[in-house]
Amino acid sequence: MLKASKKSASESVEVEGCPIHLRRTTSQLVRAAEVRATGSPPNWSAIWRKSPASPRGSPRAAARVRAPCSRGRDDVIIRSVAANASKRLLWAVEILGVAPDDRILEVGCGHGVAVSLVCERLDGGRLTAVDRSPRMIEMAKRRNRNHAAKARFVAASLAQADLGDEIYDKVFAIHVAALHTPGAALDIVRQRLAPGGRLYLFSQAPSWKAPEQAEAFGAQLSGVLEGAGFRTDERLVKGLGSGFAAAVVAQ
Ligand SMILES: C[S@@+](CC[C@H](N)C(=O)[O-])C[C@H]1O[C@@H](n2cnc3c(N)ncnc32)[C@H](O)[C@@H]1O
Repeated sequence: MLKASKKSASESVEVEGCPIHLRRTTSQLVRAAEVRATGSPPNWSAIWRKSPASPRGSPRAAARVRAPCSRGRDDVIIRSVAANASKRLLWAVEILGVAPDDRILEVGCGHGVAVSLVCERLDGGRLTAVDRSPRMIEMAKRRNRNHAAKARFVAASLAQADLGDEIYDKVFAIHVAALHTPGAALDIVRQRLAPGGRLYLFSQAPSWKAPEQAEAFGAQLSGVLEGAGFRTDERLVKGLGSGFAAAVVAQ
């Protein structure tokens, strides 16, 4: 969900829980929303925007399809990607292959939809959901009040999160750019994985209309993970109706 209001030259919006600071023109708003909605790290823009197989001409045109919709005078008339969300999340949770007693960490849980899907499969296991947005954590908590015994919510960036002495069999993230580049977030994941534990990273950009685009993203991500001390187990690409999603599984 993208929310925007035109009150001043400097405005804040959220795209699916990602706070964005942006300037006030509509085209700037569209560009900022595009970058945050896709979670694209800066040096990966070639994959997101300029893939030869992309049917979209300009970044702005692509943004109209990529980002969720907004309200207000500066409305960004954007086709919602929400229609695909459940398919993507279902696929992600299927790939996770949740065992009843798994100890799981989700980084960037957003509204907590994947938390629900995971908790439905846990019996004796537990899930910790971290999101740097307190608002997202509140929404995720509310959505998962029936799973309170299995799920713990932490409102902090992964680098700041108090995870106690928890370790995890599975760590996953869907569209969380902090795990797409070397740094504190990947270091923490590596330290918190139990022996034999795995990291699962998922992404889908609406511009990925050919499997090669998702595969290229997966290959780059795999390279980043290997550089951060992980070993890639699997790279997956999935057609989800309107486009392709990528997953990288590493340990
Ligand atoms: C694009 S949203 C995706 C939300 C959800 N995973 C989904 O696919 O619907 C990214 C989420 O990750 C959170 N996030 C981004 N970087 C983070 C970090 N370093 N630590 C914790 N949460 C983070 C944002 O607040 C946001 O809720």
